[in-house]
Amino acid sequence: MNDIQYIPVDPVQRFMIDVFKALGTPPGEAEICADVLIASDLRGIESHGIARLKYYYDRIQAGVQSVETEIEVVNETETTAVLDGHDGMGQVIAYRAMRLAMEKARQYGTGAVAVRNGTHFGIAGYYPLMAAEEGMIGLCVTNARPAQAPTFGTEPMLGTNPIAFAAPSDMGFPFCLDAATSISQRGKIEVAARAGKPVPEGVIIDPQGQSLTDPEQILAGLGRATAAFLPLGGAGEELAGYKGYGLATVVEILSASLCGGAFMKDLLGFAPDGSRRPYMLGHFFLAIDIEHFIPLETSQRVTGSIMRSLQASRKAPGQDRIYVAGEKEHEMVEIVRQAGIPVNANLRRELQAMRDELGMEGYEAYF
Ligand SMILES: NC(=O)c1ccc[n+]([C@@H]2O[C@H](COP(=O)([O-])OP(=O)(O)OC[C@H]3O[C@@H](n4cnc5c(N)ncnc54)[C@H](O)[C@@H]3O)[C@@H](O)[C@H]2O)c1
Repeated sequence: MNDIQYIPVDPVQRFMIDVFKALGTPPGEAEICADVLIASDLRGIESHGIARLKYYYDRIQAGVQSVETEIEVVNETETTAVLDGHDGMGQVIAYRAMRLAMEKARQYGTGAVAVRNGTHFGIAGYYPLMAAEEGMIGLCVTNARPAQAPTFGTEPMLGTNPIAFAAPSDMGFPFCLDAATSISQRGKIEVAARAGKPVPEGVIIDPQGQSLTDPEQILAGLGRATAAFLPLGGAGEELAGYKGYGLATVVEILSASLCGGAFMKDLLGFAPDGSRRPYMLGHFFLAIDIEHFIPLETSQRVTGSIMRSLQASRKAPGQDRIYVAGEKEHEMVEIVRQAGIPVNANLRRELQAMRDELGMEGYEAYF
């Protein structure tokens, strides 16, 4: 059923650039979009790479996302800015917003940029990693279509609202926590659906609070608001699901309250008359230039020591390794470069359809 083929990284990246260009994205911006998607595949985050190309393809064709990205500076100080992305390409908006935050941080120590009218930008971790590469701590959060229920509720009110944080270390890779504030997120359900695998109990609930496990039913339910992700920690208070719920709300506030943008049910992508409209997402980016605090090397050593101490601590029975955030993804990059990107039959069909609809040549050998 899975019928997985491993496709080399380069043609996958080229294909994505060519698709974006064929849709009308200017070449340099198509490269940014494809770079964010390929970074996801390279880091082993199957849900947000080539598997998501069709998301953007459909949204561009539906007219709810523009291929040309016109960013407006709404407000700006030395250390802060509010940008309006005008529904352009999410990756380009987020890349530019993070760059701006980093430029401000380089000069003044910190830079914070809030964005309204953004669109889906892929993995949140890409952007703080840009900061970590340049000796800065980076943070990025974004709201998303409502899909997560609050503690004691069953109605999808908040997005899966990821938090991504990266800090440079002396470990050869940065610490990078990049995760939704719900137990799972839509992309993982899409991967399960393509693979024909059930979702574990206790991750997604129906309006009566019962677990849903069939990924196709869940995806349909998310669209109709009859399925909701549980927050990190799970249902109720016993395992502190309210902490995930609280974190998701923090993300919603940072994503909307500094830019005056849309939030929660206004992000559904549908107007009151049922017609499709842009998702109007909000994001928040923070860069902290470490050299304004202490020498970068000292900070990298401290962060590295924290990571090493965690790795070296006592293991649970049956476990021989403790990881730190960002470690598995760092190791995956070499593995994926060697083995290629896994593409199963369902995804291959999607890619073939895009290839043929756009009349693209030179990819028949891959999909
Ligand atoms: N743009 C959006 O709207 C949106 C919404 C939700 C999620 N996402 C993206 O989806 C991706 C996946 O999110 P997710 O919630 O499924 O992530 P996940 O549950 O797979 O968690 C990933 C994080 O956990 C860390 N991790 C994994 N195993 C670990 C271990 N044993 N020890 C220590 N750390 C460990 C990883 O290093 C990583 O930082 C992220 O890149 C996120 O940004 C995007």
